[in-house]
Amino acid sequence: MTVDGRLLMSDPRPSTETVAAQLAAFERELAAAASARDAQLVRDRYLGRRNSVVASWMQLIAGAPPEEKKQIGRFANDLKQAIEERWKLYEGTAAAVAPAGAVDVTLPGRVQPLGHRHPLTVVRDQMEEIFTRMGFAIVEGDEVEDEWHCFDALNMPAEHPARDMQDTLYLERPIKAPAGDIRTLLRTHTSSMQIRYMQTHTPPIRIVVPGRVYRRDDLDLTHTPMFTQMEGLAVGEGISLADLKGTLEAFVRDMFGPKSRLRFRPSFFPYTEPSAEVDISCWQCDGAGCAMCKKTGWLEILGSGMVHPAVFEAVGYDPERYTGFAWGIGIERIAMLRYRVDDIRLFFENDLRFLEQFPY
Ligand code: DAH
Repeated sequence: MTVDGRLLMSDPRPSTETVAAQLAAFERELAAAASARDAQLVRDRYLGRRNSVVASWMQLIAGAPPEEKKQIGRFANDLKQAIEERWKLYEGTAAAVAPAGAVDVTLPGRVQPLGHRHPLTVVRDQMEEIFTRMGFAIVEGDEVEDEWHCFDALNMPAEHPARDMQDTLYLERPIKAPAGDIRTLLRTHTSSMQIRYMQTHTPPIRIVVPGRVYRRDDLDLTHTPMFTQMEGLAVGEGISLADLKGTLEAFVRDMFGPKSRLRFRPSFFPYTEPSAEVDISCWQCDGAGCAMCKKTGWLEILGSGMVHPAVFEAVGYDPERYTGFAWGIGIERIAMLRYRVDDIRLFFENDLRFLEQFPY
């Protein structure tokens, strides 16, 4: 500091060493500045027009003996330049660009709310995981199908009730074919992928096909015009009904607990022979009878059977050589049983109050 143009005794006199020392002090103070505003104050203390270090050195020139004026002037300029350069560097940094107080780096970050999987995705993932462990590959197919893959090749003749306009959503653009147009539709079941996969692969085959299917159904507690299925298909030499039972039993034990039992009821599907509908013992009452199983002790979960020879013929497989089993399971149905959801529409309404109740 200067008093009447003279340095106080405690102040260092301008010299090569004091230029370096002042610069180092400036650096230290600048680094310690907590905000852009503090940094500006540090700068002013060294470079400001009045009462700054550089200003006080400049003032010394006037009162100095003539032979020292030049030298003091040079040191003062050296210090000024060095500090100005350092200040320019600092101004280029983000800390200086931000207005005072704008960035508090000590504040914890904002936590984004984490979404989680839809209950149907949870169930589908779990089913896929169980079947992949058993050696099944996961295959997906298009939701737009043609009636040959969806029906004819699956041994469903033209007059089969499921082909009725009542059940199937047909599309306007048919596929042109020499033998006549083939109508296109939204697939009514994932079974059509059995055909597509067999047409392009040779046995042994083990696949599961998850995906959306569509039907002309009105909305009610157990029906939606779009829902999700998982088709299963295993084809090879010497595959028997026992393999079907073993596979499905392993699946339900994994899905619903080791105490689950299976019941096969004779049924009919055009693409399997024999065909069976499969029930599991009610996992809530263990078969004793309760509200969930409507006092029967059993819950129906899927349709299945041994692949019909006509299906093998449609894809060019030798039905004398190959046998196989297939099943179709509704993913919503499994999710409803697992989580005791009594209205299928809840899965598609996207109400967070419903969706947030599921584990992950
Ligand atoms: N496609 C049937 C449906 O949508 C389910 C089904 C039953 C699939 C038996 C199969 C099967 O592969 O063998 O209801």
